[in-house]
Amino acid sequence: MKMEAFPPVEGNYNLQNYEEMYEKFQWDQAEEQFSWHTTGKVNLAYEAVDRHAEGSKKDKAALCYLSSTRNETYTFNDLKQMTNKAGNVLRTKAGVKKGDRVFIFMPRSPELYFALLGVIKIGAIVGPLFEAFMEDAVRDRLYDSSAKVLITTPELLERVPVQDLPALETIFLIGENIEEKDQYVDYQKHFQEASAQLDIEWVERTDGLILHYTSGSTGKPKGVLHVHNAMVQHYQSAKWVLDLQEDDIYWCTADPGWVTGTSYGIFGPWLTGTTNIVAGGRFSPEGWYKTIESFGVTVWYSAPTSFRMLMAAGEPALKSHNLTSLRHVLSVGEPLNPEVIRWGQESFKKRIHDTWWMTETGAQLICNYPCMELRLGSMGKPLPGVEAAILDDEGNILPPNQMGNLAIKKGWPSLMHTIWNNQEKYDSYFPFSDWYVSGDSAYMDEEGYFWFQGRVDDVIMTAGERVGPFEVESKLIEHPAVAEAGVIGKPDHIRGEIIKAFVALNDGYTESDQLKEEIRHFVKTGLAAHSAPREIEFCEKIPKTRSGKIMRRVLKAWELGLPTGDLSTLED
Ligand code: WT7
Repeated sequence: MKMEAFPPVEGNYNLQNYEEMYEKFQWDQAEEQFSWHTTGKVNLAYEAVDRHAEGSKKDKAALCYLSSTRNETYTFNDLKQMTNKAGNVLRTKAGVKKGDRVFIFMPRSPELYFALLGVIKIGAIVGPLFEAFMEDAVRDRLYDSSAKVLITTPELLERVPVQDLPALETIFLIGENIEEKDQYVDYQKHFQEASAQLDIEWVERTDGLILHYTSGSTGKPKGVLHVHNAMVQHYQSAKWVLDLQEDDIYWCTADPGWVTGTSYGIFGPWLTGTTNIVAGGRFSPEGWYKTIESFGVTVWYSAPTSFRMLMAAGEPALKSHNLTSLRHVLSVGEPLNPEVIRWGQESFKKRIHDTWWMTETGAQLICNYPCMELRLGSMGKPLPGVEAAILDDEGNILPPNQMGNLAIKKGWPSLMHTIWNNQEKYDSYFPFSDWYVSGDSAYMDEEGYFWFQGRVDDVIMTAGERVGPFEVESKLIEHPAVAEAGVIGKPDHIRGEIIKAFVALNDGYTESDQLKEEIRHFVKTGLAAHSAPREIEFCEKIPKTRSGKIMRRVLKAWELGLPTGDLSTLED
């Protein structure tokens, strides 16, 4: 087998010698730099904001926000005051207490970041929702978590089924001319009046921090709960993997609705006291290159699907911008194609470093580091302090070059604390007690590099987002024309996978392109744009097991023209 590799990069990186650090590093060493290590008072938001505001980084730019209508910079001191105000509004106007669930459903803006950290400062659990979510997606998440408070905008309020959410006591609206009545409160009005002094709620390291809902192959999205202790790994990985240093201008392109947008769009950069760029609005190659150029971005964390879109946009956009400020580039979310890495090397003379982790793992686990040889197509090696292995289905460790279940030995600080309301689901990640089993299949080569092979279950990775086929199927069959539906990921050059739906129609409906479009729109407006099938194929029947489970692997084999494999459990 031919293996292509790029040599280690020379430079003053935070992680100088991977092997040596892997040998000696223990997580408690990383704890020493937090103030709670001496004071005993724990709160992630204090460490990410106030600690810097009270020290030498007081006037350093923390947040630079750019959108088509706004261009604002906030120092760490500003950030302290804004997050204090947010915390005060929530406490005084909604009685938010430690452990309450507060959700934020709004476009990316400075207010979102202030609110998110404000929730954390008062010890509550924050639930960030992606602004593209439609009514069903919003309902599932707020209902499952018994959210007490929601912060949203008047425009997005239309997608909040308030009548179905008995636990929801207060809805803060951010916008113009808000009329305060019933449970609706004008957020900005009270924010302006709120005090910039706040008594931070000190918590235990194992107290709830953030709830991220994520998809599996069956059932509704599950609420992955992370706790304050995750900051240890957010910090250490931001040092070693993102290689954040004093003068960096860092840009993570992910939305805080996804875990990358919080762990590495908020916590990692601010725990390390780094200047963080937030760009509003939608993706455009021009806009993205301009963001790098105008801020002089030095460290850039994005996703394969975005790199592929930039690649597809071609030379003109690239060549008209100066990207020489970039010194370190990283990727997450799906396999990073060697082709993309080669493009990065040619286009901006930098290696793109792949990183592997999951919503459930809370932080990066298997990564490429500048000081290490980069093998194109490999996810890299486990972070110092992390033990990874490939297990067979009985939990035995497999030797190199054998494909199996990618698993991580328990004991890294950012592992999820629980799945909300679903202990059974949580336990299912640990079939062999000590090992977290990821649901990804992979192999490890002789030198300890890990190579991703695919998801073991049917979860679809489309444009870097995890979509559970079950949720899409459930939505599809709500459409009056749809009798049955089976949903799979179909390989796609730009998006990694696209969502493809096989649909059997009810009697009385006729197959047509118009009906396909109508069904697509139904999912798009009912669930979320990124969950809508790009392709729909009508078929007579959906292949199912005798017990009624949709056999997505059969659909996939049909799609790819591959053998269908064992059909002994097929219904008929
Ligand atoms: C799944 C987790 C955590 C951030 C983004 C996604 C896939 C993630 C890689 C990578 C190949 C990757 C895996 C994983 N994935 N990173 N570097 N190479 N696949 O988080 O939505 O929780 O999805 O994304 O399949 O299990 P997520």
